[in-house]
Amino acid sequence: MVTPTPADKFTFGLWTIGYNGTDPFGGPTRPPLDVVHAVEKLAEIGAYGLTFHDDDLFAFGSTDAERQKQIDRLKAVLDSTGLTVPMVTTNLFSPPVFKDGGFTSNDRAVRRFALRKVLRQLELGVELGAKTFVMWGGREGAEYDAAKDVRTALERYREAVNLLGQYVIDKGYDIRFAIEPKPNEPRGDILLPTVGHALAFIETLEHPELVGLNPEVGHEQMAGLNFAAGIAQALYHGKLFHIDLNGQRGIKYDQDLVFGHGDLHNAFALVDLLENGGPNGGPSYEGPRHFDYKPSRTEDETGVWDSAAANMRTYLLLKERAAAFRADPEVQEALEAARVFELAQPTLGEGESYDDLLADRSAYEDFDADAYFGAKGFGFVRLQQLATEHLLGAR
Ligand code: GCO
Ligand code: MN
Ligand code: MN
Ligand code: MN
Repeated sequence: MVTPTPADKFTFGLWTIGYNGTDPFGGPTRPPLDVVHAVEKLAEIGAYGLTFHDDDLFAFGSTDAERQKQIDRLKAVLDSTGLTVPMVTTNLFSPPVFKDGGFTSNDRAVRRFALRKVLRQLELGVELGAKTFVMWGGREGAEYDAAKDVRTALERYREAVNLLGQYVIDKGYDIRFAIEPKPNEPRGDILLPTVGHALAFIETLEHPELVGLNPEVGHEQMAGLNFAAGIAQALYHGKLFHIDLNGQRGIKYDQDLVFGHGDLHNAFALVDLLENGGPNGGPSYEGPRHFDYKPSRTEDETGVWDSAAANMRTYLLLKERAAAFRADPEVQEALEAARVFELAQPTLGEGESYDDLLADRSAYEDFDADAYFGAKGFGFVRLQQLATEHLLGAR
């Protein structure tokens, strides 16, 4: 059960396994990874798909012939391995032209160029059968408050996403957009910094149904937020279109560790939510389990594939542990005692009005709020310890 197969829908960004170790303080520690080799290795370790930015596959500034050659090489290896490309995305952050962003650069010519670059990659994604187009606006932001008129920048962001939505409608393409929030890095402050900010923005769009989220574990955790809780809200709004799984240890730079190599408790809660839909049921997630991690620059190529496999194995182990947690009668009893299921009961009775509530003396006048002092614990700690013991394989 902990051996990954394509049915588990594990996908990897070409930039993840292809990360050569470059960081702000040092250059590469590994040679470049060729896409054909990458896809063959991914197939070998049980992955389902590959995702990529345009510039991961063909360097920025490639001629049409160079670009096509790389696309053809990718298509050939997809055919021979059976791997898929369920998601693509655009690099609007590395080339110098995007130093003040793409969709929201103060420079209008850059914004027009960014849109063209995205449309070109969108066409390629559709051609390869991708169903999700991720938009991570890493350079959409600022370091200085006076430098960016945030409300106007959001209006330009909106203009860009509206244009893309209209484009896929007019062309009849079966692809949806997923915005990936991040609070900072590389910009001092990035627009749409968290799941919540992005959810609010999506509702302002002309076609909000075409746009959802691609939340990343580490990005919410960089903002000190609870990732599993954010995913629950994204699911609640029907906006979990894609997901970036990785690990992060606290509020610091974007670590992109292996999934589970950060807050393991939260990773357990997340897998339980994605797989089981939470204690009161509800929608769970059907899409690819996409890893956006970086094999640490301390690793050689063996370490790259070991770390890629570690992401999948940890996910499957957590899935197994979550199933055991749910199946444990003591856990069910503790959930009951903690009144987790009672939350599903509406606060007003069927057909009850606020007048009925106001007339209900038992709800207020006769209600003994003082009786809660020193009594009526919920037993949440016991529940968390049961989760911990399942997580540790002790039950
Ligand atoms: C980051 C982001 C990116 C995006 C990628 C896809 O490095 O902080 O996670 O890796 O996921 O650009 O759009
Ligand atoms: Mn990241
Ligand atoms: Mn990501
Ligand atoms: Mn990333």
